[in-house]
Formats: sequence, C-alpha cells, structure tokens
Amino acid sequence: MCGIVGYVGGQQAYPIIVKGLHRLEYRGYDSAGIAITTDKQLNIYKQAGKVSDLEDFVKDKNVKGNIGIGHTRWATHGVPNQLNAHPHKSGDSNLALIHNGIIENYDSLKKALIKRGHVFESETDTEVLVHLIEEIKKNEKVNLFEAVRLALNEVIGAYAILVIDKENNEEIIAARKGSPLVIGIGKGEYFVASDATPIVEYTRNVVYLEDEQIARINKKEALEIKTISNIIKTPYIDELELSLEAIEKEGFEHFMLKEIFEQPKCILDTMRGRINAKTGEITLGGILDYEKKILNAERIIIVACGTSWHAGLIGEYLFEDLARISVEVEYASEFRYRNPIITEKDVVLAISQSGETADTMAALELAKQKGATILGICNVVGSSIPRLTDAGSYTHAGPEIGVASTKAFTTQVVVLTLMALRIAKEKGTLTNTEYRQIITELELIPKKVEKVLELDDLIKEIAAEFKDATNFLYLGRGYNFPVALEGALKLKEISYIHAEGYPAAEMKHGPIALIDEHMPIVVLATRKGNYEKVVSNIQEVKARGGRLIAIVTEGDKTVKELADYCIEIPACFEELMPLLSIIPLQLLSYHIAVMRNCNVDQPRNLAKSVTVE
Ligand code: AGP
Ligand code: GLU
Repeated sequence: MCGIVGYVGGQQAYPIIVKGLHRLEYRGYDSAGIAITTDKQLNIYKQAGKVSDLEDFVKDKNVKGNIGIGHTRWATHGVPNQLNAHPHKSGDSNLALIHNGIIENYDSLKKALIKRGHVFESETDTEVLVHLIEEIKKNEKVNLFEAVRLALNEVIGAYAILVIDKENNEEIIAARKGSPLVIGIGKGEYFVASDATPIVEYTRNVVYLEDEQIARINKKEALEIKTISNIIKTPYIDELELSLEAIEKEGFEHFMLKEIFEQPKCILDTMRGRINAKTGEITLGGILDYEKKILNAERIIIVACGTSWHAGLIGEYLFEDLARISVEVEYASEFRYRNPIITEKDVVLAISQSGETADTMAALELAKQKGATILGICNVVGSSIPRLTDAGSYTHAGPEIGVASTKAFTTQVVVLTLMALRIAKEKGTLTNTEYRQIITELELIPKKVEKVLELDDLIKEIAAEFKDATNFLYLGRGYNFPVALEGALKLKEISYIHAEGYPAAEMKHGPIALIDEHMPIVVLATRKGNYEKVVSNIQEVKARGGRLIAIVTEGDKTVKELADYCIEIPACFEELMPLLSIIPLQLLSYHIAVMRNCNVDQPRNLAKSVTVE
C-alpha cells in the first residue's frame, strides 16, 4: 500500500525522505511526490512512476529545507498520473497533505466545498481533505492541529495523513485511522512513516499512533497527542527491534530470493524458545492466558487474505487432524459482509503478515463485537492486528520486503503447527509418542528446507523450459492442496502467467478440459497422504498430453516414470510437508519471473499490505 514519510529537525529533509520512500517501495505504488517548506515557501514535486523518476525530476529543483513530507501513492480514486499524485495542496497553497487510505464521503464533502468556492485540481478523494482543513482553519481561526482534528470529525473512511503549513517550518501534524503511522523520536528531530523501515537507521525510539489519534510533531517540543474527540493522550514510547541488515538485500538479486533463502533461519526463529528441548513442551507465551478458551472452543474461525488465507487452510487440516477442533477458514473480505454466525464460544484467529490488512482488521472487529475471543498470528511487531486482538503469536520471520509472501507463509504454518500441537497435547487427542514424533520431525525442518534450497539450479533449468507458457495448473491433495493454491498465486503475482491451483481430484470435474500438450501442470505428489490417488490423477493428465512437473519425495520411482520433470524433496510427516513442498514452487515462480524480466519485488498493481477495502 502507499507509503508515507515525514521529517522535521535540523537536517536536510529531502535525502531522508527520498531514502525513506525507497525503503517503502516494497509496499507497492504507482506514483511518488514530496513537499518541502523553507523560508515560508512550499515546494511540491510529484511524478507518475517510481521514486527514481521523482529523483530525476527534482535534480535541478530547489529541495532545500528542514521539514518535508513524501508519499508513494497506490491509486484508489483517480488514475495514477502526476496531477493525482500526492502531496495535495490547499486552495491558498499554504498547506500540503499526504494521505493513505480512502475518504468514503469525499463526494458529498467535495460538492459542498465547490459550492463554497473551492477549486480542485485532481480526481482524488485526498484533495478534499486539505481544502476542508484549510477552510476550517480560516473560519474557526484555530491552529493547524485543531483544524485537522475538526476536519477529521467530518470525515468517514480510513486515513493516515501528514500535513504541513508553509507558515510554520517546525511542525508536522499527523493523524491515523485504519492506516498505520509510526513516529520516530530523535534529538531535536522527528521521523514519521507508514512503518519503521525508514526510521530504523536514525532512532530506535518510536511511538505507534493509535486509531483516531492526532499528533503535533514539533521539532522544538515534546510530542503531543490527542484523539479526534479531543482527549489528550500520553505518548507511549516503544523500542524498535528491527535491524538495518534485515531490511537490506545482502547480496541477493532480489528481496524475494533473499527471503526464500532465509526460510531455514526464519523457521528456527519462529520455533526459538517455544519448544523445550528436554520435555518437548510447547509454550506460546502470547496465547497462554487464552489457552482454555481455545481448548473449549466449539470451533475456530480463521480469517485472512491471500497467502495468509492459504496458511489458514493448512491450519484447518492441522487443528482438525491433530487437535480435533472444527475449523472454518474464511476470506476476511467475505466474512465481514456476510452476517456470519459468531458466538462467545468461538475463537476467531486472524493471520496476517503485515498486521494491517483492512479486510482482516474489519473481520476481527466484527468478531470482537459479537463477543468472540480474537487471536492473531502476525509478523510485523506492533502492527494494528496484534494491538486489536486479545492474544496472539508473532511469526518472528523478520521484515518481508518482497511483495510476494514467502517466509511469512512458512512461518505462519509453523506457528499454526505449534498451536495445534499444544492444544492437541492438552486435549489428549494425540498420544505422547505421536506428539514427540511430530516435534522431533518439526525440529528437523530447517535442515530439510536447506536441502530443498540446494535444488535451486535444477529448478532454474525447469523455469527456463516453461517460462513462455501462458497457463499453469497446480494440483495437490490434503495438506498439499493449499500448497497448490499458494504455488499458483506466487506464479500469477510475479510472472503474470495465469495459473490455477486445484485439488487434484477436482481436476476431472472441469479443468481437465484445459489440458493439452501446451499446458504445464505442477503436481504435488509427495509420499504419504493420498499418494496413490495423486498418481492416478497424474495418469489422467498424462493421457491428455499435459507436461508434468512433479514434486516428489526423494527416491520416488513411480511418478518419475510419468513426469517430464521431477523435483525430489526430503521425506517428512504429511502434516509438515507444506513447509518443504512450497519451497520449489516459490523458486519456480521466482526464476520464471526473472526470465520474463518482471519486477519481482514490486509486481505491477500489487501492494504489500492492502490497507484499503
Ligand atoms: C502474498 O504473496 C500477497 N501479496 C497477498 O496475497 C497477501 O498475502 C495478502 O494481501 C495478505 O496480506 P497480509 O498477510 O499482510 O494480511
Ligand atoms: N485514496 C487516495 C488516492 O487515491 C490515497 C491512496 C493511497 O493510499 O495511496 O490518491
């Protein structure tokens, strides 16, 4: 989603803001802009395209000043062109504003403002906001802080905003509702951003702005926060745990590749301190107080979007299989508008890498209203979902910058496995021996992932063979079915090849019609589970001339004879297989995308965290 960066202090604002915008590029955007004030002069520069286009554009322009705001826009209202790019300015050209989110009642506000003589330049919902603030500031004769507060009382929708006034070169006003904002506190300087990545190299002290809060960020004064209903709040200073290395590429060509290769370490980090080496006891500190609730839950409803939803599907198999708790997995966007039946006995578990996905947040809010216990599995520490939920567990995968989720997925599956095992143990649905066997196997997973990663060269060769295909089918059964969905999503996202994931047995009910000698079919045919049945599905594909890439267990002979290409991965328990079988699919889509010259880390139209509906 869009990125926001602001700076006020003693340094030049421009380099800090541009660097920050680069750090936020991973979130996905289509245009960029910056506003800097100096000596009561406001300079706004914007461009469609990349932050580098903006940098080229401002090369010969005046970017001097110690205060500024910068934005990467992910268009919701109005095409991504220079005019619609942020910052937007007030009618008198005194105020500049950047915004992430959607002003839902912008149309009625705009019509009323036009009637009162305001003239608009862009098609955005955002521009309305800056005109409204300007009008209130003048009419009510209040300062900017108060004008923003009063304006936001008239607004319906979601926002993170920064506003500056050319008359005041010391102050940024920030506000949020539904979209994240973090304020970094330095010595005589402040940094503001959509997430901590642009801030981490300057300071570790941050304040996460809460929903409906407004901040007055003045370089000479302490941070001042109030709510939009005018209640003063004391800022709570958090310490950042993020490291600078974690947000850099460290020699890899792309963040996605770095993140794929980080998975053995990330999985270890997810398990770290959670499994007792001697007793095998699992402790998930974050949900300890709610364990009884989960144990007694009639069902668990998992809400998520995209890749996190796929992890949720694996969670369904795990919880039902191991802990015998009934699970429903819902697309958060559907769930929130469906008038779902939720009771106080339900546990609603949200899964989200970013912890900011608007649909997932709204689904949780609905569940909370209905009295359910709400839990979260998130990666970004301090993000909105962990703050909203009753309890939860972090995945500890470290920052995921590539838009296509990889390490977030595997670590989500690890947390779900730990949760299901812990509950199964408490409920007695697994024998001690079964429990210990799975734990032992789980601890071997990082090493086995390393072995799968050694297949990178082979996978690259296969990618070269199939890079020009226009359609792909991914098939899997049981635990491998969500993996097929995730494999197809990865390919679509970054290579723009159409791909579909299907339960292998469902193929004959429709997609089989698509199969001919041009159609590559990726089949997950690892041993255990429904191996024999999958082999029959492979025969059905072969009989129709499809080109087969099979993911099999090391030493497999049967599928090897049938498939055009085989990728052999280590044997492991069926329940843990997704942690291995997804790796070749991530690498396959990565290499195909690179060979097609696609922008792997920032695929077109996609945003890393979707903070609008
Ligand atoms: C993953 O590759 C996607 N970019 C996307 O589907 C993502 O998983 C989805 O938007 C959910 O995001 P979240 O996990 O941050 O909530
Ligand atoms: N709704 C605003 C626009 O379309 C902001 C979009 C964003 O979050 O980048 O300009």
